[in-house]
Amino acid sequence: MLKQRKSIVGLDVGTSCIKAIEITQDKFDYIITAFAQIDIAGEQARRDALSELFKSGGFRTKRVATSVSGKSVIFRFINMVQMSDDNLTNAIKFEADKYIPFDVDEVQLDTQKLMDLPATEEGAQDEMKVLLVAAKRSIVEDQATMLSELGLSPVNIGVDSFALGNAYELNDIVSPGLQESDHTVALVDIGFAKSSINILRNNVTFFAREVPMGGQDLTNAITRRFGLEPFEAEALKRDPQEQVVEVQDAVSATLDDLGNEINLSFDFFENQFEGEVQEVYLSGGSALLPFLEESMEKIFEKRTRVWNPIEGLKVRSDNVDIDALNQSAPQLAVAVGLATAGT
Ligand SMILES: Nc1ncnc2c1ncn2[C@@H]1O[C@H](COP(=O)(O)OP(=O)(O)OP(=O)(O)O)[C@@H](O)[C@H]1O
Ligand SMILES: [Mg+2]
Repeated sequence: MLKQRKSIVGLDVGTSCIKAIEITQDKFDYIITAFAQIDIAGEQARRDALSELFKSGGFRTKRVATSVSGKSVIFRFINMVQMSDDNLTNAIKFEADKYIPFDVDEVQLDTQKLMDLPATEEGAQDEMKVLLVAAKRSIVEDQATMLSELGLSPVNIGVDSFALGNAYELNDIVSPGLQESDHTVALVDIGFAKSSINILRNNVTFFAREVPMGGQDLTNAITRRFGLEPFEAEALKRDPQEQVVEVQDAVSATLDDLGNEINLSFDFFENQFEGEVQEVYLSGGSALLPFLEESMEKIFEKRTRVWNPIEGLKVRSDNVDIDALNQSAPQLAVAVGLATAGT
């Protein structure tokens, strides 16, 4: 008898690096059945890199789930009168123009109800807090067109912050019981151009945002300090060897700026939702920086760990370079989360 197997490729087209991970769900198992990643130099190189990656990556399915990010995606927290999810989907179309700088017809909207806000005055209506995410439709459509032209079939286009939440939820499915109940964690993915944040309470997203800072700011700091070419600074950052102390010193002010900016998001969450972020999980390529965990823990003053989003997943070792996969693990959080769409 044929077994029911469903595969999907989580495709994270980052500013500097494309990551693709194929996850196949086989009954209760989640198996990494293919993986590839490729660094890209600028937007022009993206299409060729994608084509190359799918030619050589050993992927079996054409179904891909991907994401959009950056300036074309906007996160807003708004208060609305309490209503059902179906009504919210309709109502937001009429409300959204008050909160976003784009024409409502030009965006794709997504909402998440966060918590009830009972009326405090007599006669007032009960309200609720809602997270509104608006992504420019043209960006989403361009992404879908590019993938279709490459012979792929896009099944879902989301945003990085939510993909992080999905990866965390998958961890909970494959390793149940590891995550404590009534726990608040912040997932922080530090990439090249930006850092994505998702704060979850009991596995539900309460806060999501992108901060326009990341690994390129660290490389720039090294470029300036050592008077190097950017590509040399990048190599030194990735493998500082005996210069690790000097490199750490060169990026320390930039790390402080980044950490403090992320801390503002924690403060916002803590003020709005009366609860503390208890633990921080770091991911993204910049989490491969050996001293990142320690530096961020000092700034956040919270338990901070580099996250391995593939822990507990099985791997098809005949089709996947396990060493390369494990080496990149923290960088794959968004791709893993995207691959959970529709499995
Ligand atoms: N070993 C390493 N040590 C330190 N930094 C690293 C290492 N490997 C990669 N990086 C950094 O990680 C960043 C790329 O990470 P990632 O792939 O998560 O970003 P991206 O998805 O391309 O970008 P964005 O999410 O901003 O669009 C680069 O800035 C790169 O310098
Ligand atoms: Mg990224």
